[in-house]
Amino acid sequence: MQRINPQPAIQGLKGFLSFEGTEGSGKSTQVKLLSAYLKNKGYNVLTTEEPGGTKIGLKIREILLAPENSMNPLTELLLYSTSRAQHVREVIYPALMQGIIVATDRFTDSTIAYQGYGRGIDLSVIKTLNDIVAPDLKPFISFLLDIDVQEGLTRNIGAQKKDRLELETIEFHNRVRKGYLELAKEESGRIKIIDASKSPDKVSKKVIEILETAWL
Ligand code: TMP
Repeated sequence: MQRINPQPAIQGLKGFLSFEGTEGSGKSTQVKLLSAYLKNKGYNVLTTEEPGGTKIGLKIREILLAPENSMNPLTELLLYSTSRAQHVREVIYPALMQGIIVATDRFTDSTIAYQGYGRGIDLSVIKTLNDIVAPDLKPFISFLLDIDVQEGLTRNIGAQKKDRLELETIEFHNRVRKGYLELAKEESGRIKIIDASKSPDKVSKKVIEILETAWL
């Protein structure tokens, strides 16, 4: 029988980092800045994203984000989870097992915030699914780039971004932000809130400061 679970027992590895936040919070810029900083210090770093990160994941990303696809919330949840199942097994676990630092633009907290708080799917269902899809795998630190929802969406309009999720109502995005903040309260050791309204440079300094303290 084929194993569906990847290598066990790598929980607690310090090299798995995630960036989380609502639309326009600047995650992808911060992933790049942190990666450049760490590479400069001689670390081996892999940057990746969800949904995506693999060939299959990128195809799923297209389906998920195409504005013309009207989608049932359960279909949405399962597609994000499907992309993650492949991503974890094909990319994340193998890299971590080789001692490579993995910095991902979104991970399981996104599903709790968007499909849980945003869409209203039972959080226990999402947590169970997250545990199946990514067993024993939690980021060592998750940087939550927090920004006023309207401010973030306006930034993205400037960048000409308009995917299916971004087209959701302001109420939806506010629920997502609230969800993230709740999660950060529940897991304050792992999820670190950073004020993302500041300049990319200032945000990056904060990210590095938090990481270096956590790695001590
Ligand atoms: P991105 O634009 O940050 O790359 O993310 C794509 C969108 O997918 C973004 O609106 C957040 C959403 N998303 C979820 O709704 N659930 C998830 O589990 C993930 C990973 C992303």
